[in-house]
Amino acid sequence: MYDINKIRQDFPILGREVYGKPLVYLDNGATTQKPLCVLDAMRDEYLNVNANVHRGVHYLSQQATDLHEAAREKVRAFINAKSTNEVIFTRGTTEALNLVVSSFADEFMGEGDEVIVSTMEHHSNIVPWQLQAAKKGICLKVIPMNDKGEILMDEYRKLFSERTRIVSVAHVSNVLGTINPVKEMISIAHEHGVPFMLDGAQSVPHFKVDVQDLDCDFMAFSGHKMYGPTGVGVLYGKEDWLDRMPPYQGGGEMIESVSFEKTVFEKLPFKFEAGTPDYVATHGLATAIDYLQGIGMDEIQRHETDLTEYAMKRMREIEGMRFFGEADHKDAVVSFLVGDIHHLDMGTLLDRLGIAVRTGHHCAEPLMIRLGIQGTVRASFGLYNTREEVDTLVEGIKRVSRMF
Ligand code: ALA
Repeated sequence: MYDINKIRQDFPILGREVYGKPLVYLDNGATTQKPLCVLDAMRDEYLNVNANVHRGVHYLSQQATDLHEAAREKVRAFINAKSTNEVIFTRGTTEALNLVVSSFADEFMGEGDEVIVSTMEHHSNIVPWQLQAAKKGICLKVIPMNDKGEILMDEYRKLFSERTRIVSVAHVSNVLGTINPVKEMISIAHEHGVPFMLDGAQSVPHFKVDVQDLDCDFMAFSGHKMYGPTGVGVLYGKEDWLDRMPPYQGGGEMIESVSFEKTVFEKLPFKFEAGTPDYVATHGLATAIDYLQGIGMDEIQRHETDLTEYAMKRMREIEGMRFFGEADHKDAVVSFLVGDIHHLDMGTLLDRLGIAVRTGHHCAEPLMIRLGIQGTVRASFGLYNTREEVDTLVEGIKRVSRMF
């Protein structure tokens, strides 16, 4: 039984008003709200435990270290990684992707080598590769998609060449909501002896993701999109790859010994964690994972799929409605435009009705070029949204449409 009223009570912010209207928060693709248990856990750590991790012999430091490492184990189990050596804490998805791009390209890529990405990538999975292209002369190859927003698998197969070194693709598009057939894509990459990096920012918060089942080589995701704190994310990487990759940043924690003649790097996972980690945020993330598991990822997926289908069904009633992203396998994101109403006007006027949506290119400009538009309005759902909120959105869109 999915007790939505009880769930909503865990998020006091959902009870507030904006412009005198009850808040309808539909910008979960950008960031999610935090349940009280996450806030309490972090407050408690700052109040009672706070000390730097992995550095002190004293009691507090050991306690903070235990919490931090327990969080790593929690993440490991959540995504079913083989070992905690494969769980690197980062600032978020973007840093995790940059880490792999930089370190992988340093070790395994040279001029003329190729990376395959898709049309629907977020800028975080395009620009880091372009920086390497400028530095080392590597090339990006782009998998096209159909008008429903689905990857063209035959075209994907054709992109592999002798020079392909890695594939890097979003699990779920932050604009279209498409759930890409990544298991099959990973297996195709492996047939070519090529590793696969998954951008899990928009999938891990919404359904069960098992890295061993998918067999991906790397996966990046963020804490703040899964009801955890900002400033913490995860890079999963197979130990065999991470072992062979050079450090991304140098500093404290990532070394075993340093002299001016020679530095020996720490073992995994610390080799990739220079500087003081956000150990309070990792504890917050672990608490968010407990919260998600307490509800159940399958239940969350069922609830959000129902909301998405309901939203699309109701929004079809609206004259001039155009959807962007109508894949057969779709997650909790609905991108749209109505007639020739500018996305910014729609978003601003919905905001006045208390409805928070995202507008613009959603950090996916190449996808906008493919769609022939400048931006969309995007409603993205979370585990606490309701059908009533979808109704409010639909009424809001109708009201704004009437004004034009
Ligand atoms: N990548 C986030 C989004 O899609 C910020 O909104």
